[in-house]
Amino acid sequence: MDTDPVVREDAVDLLVARLGDGGPDDAQLLARRLRRWGPDLLAGLAIYGDRAGHTAERVVDLITAAFAGRRPALRELDETRLLRPDWFAGPDQVGYVCYVDRFAGTLRGVADRIGYLRELGVSYLHLMPLLEPRSGPDDGGYAVRDFRRVRPDLGTMADLAGLADALHEQGVALTLDLVLNHVAAEHDWATAAVRGEQPYRDYFLHFPDRTGPDAYEAALPQVFPDFAPGNFSWVPGWDGGRGGWVWTTFNTFQWDLNWANPDVFCELLDVILTLANVGVDCFRLDAIAFLWKRLGTSCQNQPEVHDIVMALRAATRIAAPAVIFKAEAIVAPEALPAYLGTGRHAGKVCDVAYHNSLMVQLWSALASGEAGLARRALAGPPPKPVTCAWATYVRCHDDIGWAVSDADAGALGLSGVEHRAFLSQFYSGEFDGSFAKGQVFQANPQTRDSRISGTLASLAGLEAALAAGDGQLVDLAAARIFLLHAVIFGYGGIPLIYMGDEIGLLNDQSYLSDPDLADDNRWLHRPWMSWQRAGLRHDPGTLEGRLFAGVRHLAQVRAALPGLHAAVESVPVDVEAAGVLGLHRRHPAGALLQLYNLTPTWQRVPGWKVEQLIGTGPAGVWDHLSGVAPTTGSDGGYHLPPYAAWWVGRPGTPG
Ligand code: GLC
Repeated sequence: MDTDPVVREDAVDLLVARLGDGGPDDAQLLARRLRRWGPDLLAGLAIYGDRAGHTAERVVDLITAAFAGRRPALRELDETRLLRPDWFAGPDQVGYVCYVDRFAGTLRGVADRIGYLRELGVSYLHLMPLLEPRSGPDDGGYAVRDFRRVRPDLGTMADLAGLADALHEQGVALTLDLVLNHVAAEHDWATAAVRGEQPYRDYFLHFPDRTGPDAYEAALPQVFPDFAPGNFSWVPGWDGGRGGWVWTTFNTFQWDLNWANPDVFCELLDVILTLANVGVDCFRLDAIAFLWKRLGTSCQNQPEVHDIVMALRAATRIAAPAVIFKAEAIVAPEALPAYLGTGRHAGKVCDVAYHNSLMVQLWSALASGEAGLARRALAGPPPKPVTCAWATYVRCHDDIGWAVSDADAGALGLSGVEHRAFLSQFYSGEFDGSFAKGQVFQANPQTRDSRISGTLASLAGLEAALAAGDGQLVDLAAARIFLLHAVIFGYGGIPLIYMGDEIGLLNDQSYLSDPDLADDNRWLHRPWMSWQRAGLRHDPGTLEGRLFAGVRHLAQVRAALPGLHAAVESVPVDVEAAGVLGLHRRHPAGALLQLYNLTPTWQRVPGWKVEQLIGTGPAGVWDHLSGVAPTTGSDGGYHLPPYAAWWVGRPGTPG
């Protein structure tokens, strides 16, 4: 499957000839872009076999129409970013993720908070799902009824465009979710399909009886075994009341789209181009791993997913080159790099991908106080394309699933199953001596897998420390929060601050009183912003002040370190201290060694090791984070305090 599809040489010429005459300059500009990205488009569309050619023509028509409707400010952004293709990869990038209503009420309210975001150094804002969902339970907005309307209580499309403009003026890019694996059961396509209307029936994967579903289920995992077991749902009204099974990987009300149908491709591309013209800069491709189904497999990570994304991205770049794609592929570490592109897809699929493995390994290492597993797991996968960036994060709106491979665990003498079970016990607070206060999400007794919900602050020990009224424990929790943020800010890529983590918001139990939310404890870590607590952020005597200043400091130090550009990888290194994670970055601007003490005790790293890795002698070691030159003790080692984070380079070199 991983061989190049043959793209006929004249195929791009034929597409160029099809371009409308939106003015001679426009046609020429589009023709240049089509020659640049057309081959990727055609290579991706090859999965549609004899429907590929016709689909390519439809795509060019969509591009032409979208380009004609692209407003001047966005066209200018296109040109600016074409000249600076790494605009999202520099060390000046900082992301922030929030729900519109929980952060600021409405889209207009968000516009009023841009100043707050800029204070934190934010240059990239991900607004959680805001397109019109179904009514009732909607999986946090991931069951979209209408891609072309904003959820009415949040505002309108015009408000969204206004917000995008306001963000752009302040140098902030806007990210929205694109839920392309499924739509709400109430989406027009789904209701038309139930009525038996073509072409909509073929937008979904449906079966008259259990034969097909049973055959697939044999190899399929379950995403929500607790509240949505199985991957298929019985729809009584299907086929004039005869009923049918519809593929529903997530909840019964989220119907998987049939991406083997090129009509679905064209529909979703049209949605992307429409939203791009509203001013969206980055699309978070939700649940992207699930798009292509193949009998006998887990129906995740199939190579066709990467073809589809390559074609979507190529088409989007032709119409709106300012736009980038971010993969939400919460998959095994070895499957992740393909979402940024490996083999013939290298550098041609998503521009950014969540580094799920880094997030998981950080929590795992913090619980065990050992860096070995993280070091091994992070060193495993192949390098990412230099043009791409990781999105690094400590927490997001989802649970933490323990994506620790059996092979990695085994190499350290651990059992994968036992270690994963330990992590859930630790972070649910059941484990003796644990500092965390989280909750188990989706325990699956068959596989013994379970996941964890909880805010960063609660999982890092702040909730328990405050409840105990113990200042020392509070200090330790605050140090852990800083440490985890330091890793995601130092790793390279776009560090994502999850709303409220900058002021230490704790678990929020209020979801329990909303029947639409109560079943899903991921709402525990989707709190409402406390502007009253945020108001304390400038007071260094408060906890909020300390935490906020820490994140802000990381953003400021990072922005001044060109060596943190995403093009360079952070490579885990053994620094001869079991409790210290060492990450090494080699960049022409100077080497940087990051040392993260994962334990509540002092750790010693041999001086020669540090000096060797940054290429200096003892007199030339500088910690960019504290702004001082650490010195070795009489034993020739550098001594890191509990939970310390150091970004060490040579003085005067920007690292
Ligand atoms: C993604 C979202 C998650 C949602 C799922 C289904 O994983 O992050 O919140 O439940 O997709 O859309």
